Amino acid sequence: MKVRNRVSRRKFVGGLAAALGYAGLAPGVDTWAQGRGAGQGGPRPGRGPISLDEYDAFAKLASNENPYGPPESVMKAMNYAFKYANRYGYPDGGIMQEIAKHHGVETDNIMLGAGSGEILNVVGTTFLKGGKKVIGVEPSYGSVYAHASGIDADSIRLPLGKDYRQDIQALVDTTNRHKDEIGLVYLCNPNNPTGIIVTKQEVKQLLDGIPKDMPVLIDEAYHHFVDDPNYATSVPYVIEGRPVIIARTFSKIAALAGMRLGYGVAPASLIRRMRPWGTGSVNALVKWGGVAALKDTAAQEKVKRITIELRKKTAAELQALGYTVIPSETNFFMVHLRREARPVIEEFRKKGVLVGRPFPPMTEHLRVSIGTADEMARFMTAFKAIFPAVKTTTASVG
Ligand SMILES: Cc1ncc(COP(=O)(O)O)c(C=O)c1O
Repeated sequence: MKVRNRVSRRKFVGGLAAALGYAGLAPGVDTWAQGRGAGQGGPRPGRGPISLDEYDAFAKLASNENPYGPPESVMKAMNYAFKYANRYGYPDGGIMQEIAKHHGVETDNIMLGAGSGEILNVVGTTFLKGGKKVIGVEPSYGSVYAHASGIDADSIRLPLGKDYRQDIQALVDTTNRHKDEIGLVYLCNPNNPTGIIVTKQEVKQLLDGIPKDMPVLIDEAYHHFVDDPNYATSVPYVIEGRPVIIARTFSKIAALAGMRLGYGVAPASLIRRMRPWGTGSVNALVKWGGVAALKDTAAQEKVKRITIELRKKTAAELQALGYTVIPSETNFFMVHLRREARPVIEEFRKKGVLVGRPFPPMTEHLRVSIGTADEMARFMTAFKAIFPAVKTTTASVG
């Protein structure tokens, strides 16, 4: 099988922007090309170079980031680690051990990645070799499907079921029907872009219903925001020895998206198969920052509490205007606009508010990340300006 070595434009532009900034030239920032893999990225309306001031001034509600930045404890740890910037074999703060301890597993159950995006790619490359297919729902976090096409593999994408939930029985039935073609099941829990969980009973239904040796990638990027008691992490299945890979990231609750740290938790035999595909490109600073982040549970609790409060407040305001909001367990939500989202996204941008890209086939829904209180107020002001008042009799989901 041919595996394309894709030197991404995002790496190149990122490096170039940094070089220009360092040289004191007036750097433009190509916000879209720089930050995202194919999952969240892709063409967006109004994209293109902007000035640093423009970037800073936007209300950034497009990429489910943490708007508050890393807490003091994490900044201190990363600043400390600068002294290792010139080393290869530097002390890494014990990041592997800390992650393993956090989950009650061994270090040979852990693989680090430059963001969980790298883990998703590595899992795809490992298990889709030989033209196998990945199966999952659509819309979901598309990077796994995009990576599959990038390595000449393919995907089977099932529609969402009732109330935008993942239809687990359909996933089980289709996986069984196509088991010889499928190399990997992808489950994003909670799902991006809907924010809806797959319950712990449904995860069990999936794992018990498909062939015992079928690898399942469970993407728990938004794990830390969930309140619903029907949700649970799937790490215990790894400990049981099932062929499950859990992907986690420090980009969301831990506010380290720009620093790039994520990891996979899986049975050691699977990690051994995955390791050759890793790039080993995690930097010294974020390893130390990651250790501090795992320990600072108070900071994460605070982010979770404020995020949920703002999500509920914004959803209630939209519902009061007559718009339906999909109930979310994450740091983002979707609102049904009842018209195509694509041009609306550009209208928001003109008003200084960046919101999520379109997620086909949910083309009338807008995904909005939860920013600061000020950013959410700016979002609501823009929303009211873009949408004429409608009657408030429309039923709303939550
Ligand atoms: C569901 C999901 N998985 C993975 C990622 C990748 O995040 P990162 O590579 O920053 O860890 C994202 C980013 O938005 C996401 O939404």
